[in-house]
Amino acid sequence: MKVLAINGSHRPGKNTAAMLNMALEEIAAQDVLTELVELSEVDIKLCLSCNKCLMKPECAIKDDAMAGLAKKMIEADAIIFGSPVYFGNVSSLFKIFMDRTRWMHMCCNLLDGKIGAALTHAGLRNGGQEFTQMLLERFTQGHGMHLVEARDPDKGVFNLGPMGTMFDSLKGENIKWKRDVSEDPLSCMMCRSLGRNILRWIKK
Ligand SMILES: Cc1cc2nc3c(=O)[nH]c(=O)nc-3n(C[C@H](O)[C@H](O)[C@H](O)COP(=O)(O)O)c2cc1C
Repeated sequence: MKVLAINGSHRPGKNTAAMLNMALEEIAAQDVLTELVELSEVDIKLCLSCNKCLMKPECAIKDDAMAGLAKKMIEADAIIFGSPVYFGNVSSLFKIFMDRTRWMHMCCNLLDGKIGAALTHAGLRNGGQEFTQMLLERFTQGHGMHLVEARDPDKGVFNLGPMGTMFDSLKGENIKWKRDVSEDPLSCMMCRSLGRNILRWIKK
């Protein structure tokens, strides 16, 4: 079994990557293969809107980068999508990636039946995480994947995926920021819970 995580942050190894890695660590602990792909390190060309993928399940753009990533996605049992919030939305890099996956579901859903999950990270406390999370989840479901959330079946407290924030507290009218997501215990707990839920589902 293999679980793939795809990070849409323009900054590899930062908060969104750390969240994805927390989920992957739970999965890797059970001897399942895991891999994190940083979209910032993959040269994905823009969708040309040529509509050729409406006729055949293939992309007219023959770039190795996207072809390699699509192969990893098709081979994976579960995929976790992560994007930071940019202007209340997914990052531009993640949107380019989304558009380039169109051929994987227009004629037939090549990712159908896989386990899918999403998480996001933003600067502010209400900085657009919920909307971005819903976009990521809609994308996952649009590809026919079975969406798994961070909800712990024994505790049942979370309804959405993990959504981190840099916001820490107010000192007077000045915002105190967290150093990084490791200082956000709720998000860390949710990422780990998400990883365990993915494991439960791929074992089913
Ligand atoms: C272009 C851009 C737009 C952003 N827009 C928002 C926003 O709408 N709301 C918010 O809370 N944070 C926003 N941020 C902050 C990022 O979401 C935040 O820094 C996040 O932690 C980045 O994730 P990373 O550490 O994985 O790169 C924006 C950052 C950038 C670069």
